[in-house]
Amino acid sequence: MASGQDKIPAKMTAIAISEPGGPRVLKPETRDVPVPGPGEILIRVRAAGINRPDVQQRKGAYPPPPGASDLPGLEVSGEVAALGDEISRWRVGDRVCALTPGGGYAEYVKVHAGSVLPLPAGFTHTEAAAVPENYFTVWHNVFERGALKSGETLLVHGGSSGIGTTAIQLASAFGAYVVTTAGSQEKCDACLKLGADRAINYREEDFVAAVKDATDGRGANVILDMVGGDYVARNYEAAAVEGRIVQIATQGGAVASADFSKIMVKRLSHTGSTLRPRSVEFKAAIAAALEAQVWPLLGTRKVAPVMDMIFPLKEAWRAHERMEDGDHIGKIVLDVG
Ligand SMILES: NC(=O)c1ccc[n+]([C@@H]2O[C@H](COP(=O)([O-])OP(=O)(O)OC[C@H]3O[C@@H](n4cnc5c(N)ncnc54)[C@H](OP(=O)(O)O)[C@@H]3O)[C@@H](O)[C@H]2O)c1
Repeated sequence: MASGQDKIPAKMTAIAISEPGGPRVLKPETRDVPVPGPGEILIRVRAAGINRPDVQQRKGAYPPPPGASDLPGLEVSGEVAALGDEISRWRVGDRVCALTPGGGYAEYVKVHAGSVLPLPAGFTHTEAAAVPENYFTVWHNVFERGALKSGETLLVHGGSSGIGTTAIQLASAFGAYVVTTAGSQEKCDACLKLGADRAINYREEDFVAAVKDATDGRGANVILDMVGGDYVARNYEAAAVEGRIVQIATQGGAVASADFSKIMVKRLSHTGSTLRPRSVEFKAAIAAALEAQVWPLLGTRKVAPVMDMIFPLKEAWRAHERMEDGDHIGKIVLDVG
């Protein structure tokens, strides 16, 4: 390790998953402070974002990839505390936020330098910790995989989620027409305030008919879907000719029956991805694209994370309870102090 080690304690407080189960299995533990290897940075964590995949991990349904920390937490903000070898860009004390492969619910975390970005201008740590996981995911799936262009229509399911609020704002900022679905009027109103052109309460309205209505019958060019199940067949109906459907989760079921002739007739593409197991090189390429194209928008607050609630690190279980209750709009964050 190149520098800064003398100021770093040997032990830290972290929130561990004591066993698979409900929110109360999240318990404070004393752990060794990680030591950054070549190409890695140690961050003194000030805030950590909560994401739905953390809930899945807590339940035992989303194991960390090989080599990753067993602690939950996919995104943090804080200060650079120490540098591994081969780091040129960062200095001890720099204010940063980062995508982590795990381990974010802790006072210190080590991350690959390619997954680290400067704090967006004017951002607090709690705001910055709400950025990486959603912005990396939306950038790759909507703009790279889905190839959304200005003037096209994006349909975002789960518009009030951390992912959804990010997709609405970014797509709108880059000139797309945005249609979204959410499960209550309050959530639909929040989506409209963020820039969605049409918000559909899926409990009261059929989203296929509403998307057709909003697009003069053409359908959506790109669909970002976190539901799966019976949404698969309905997404094929709601898609435009040459539409791209990007699957990022299957909360409504991973197995579906659909009319695949729609794929041929409309020349659809149905793809998907998961971010966490991807290579450090892949994540570094997304970080570079975000810094060039999205960080200026964050700096002027043209786009910004929607902050739902902040909990202290030791009450991570309450943060998970809030997420599972499903009343949140936007991001839940841990204040690590
Ligand atoms: N593939 C990847 O790389 C990647 C990365 C990060 C996250 N994700 C996934 O993206 C999703 C959102 O993550 P998040 O952290 O933003 O979570 P979140 O804020 O908890 O959002 C979950 C959303 O899912 C919606 N939802 C759940 N079940 C639904 C159903 N049966 N029908 C319609 N909507 C349903 C909820 O909408 P309502 O309350 O309106 O029903 C809620 O807005 C999660 O599924 C997560 O696993 C994927």
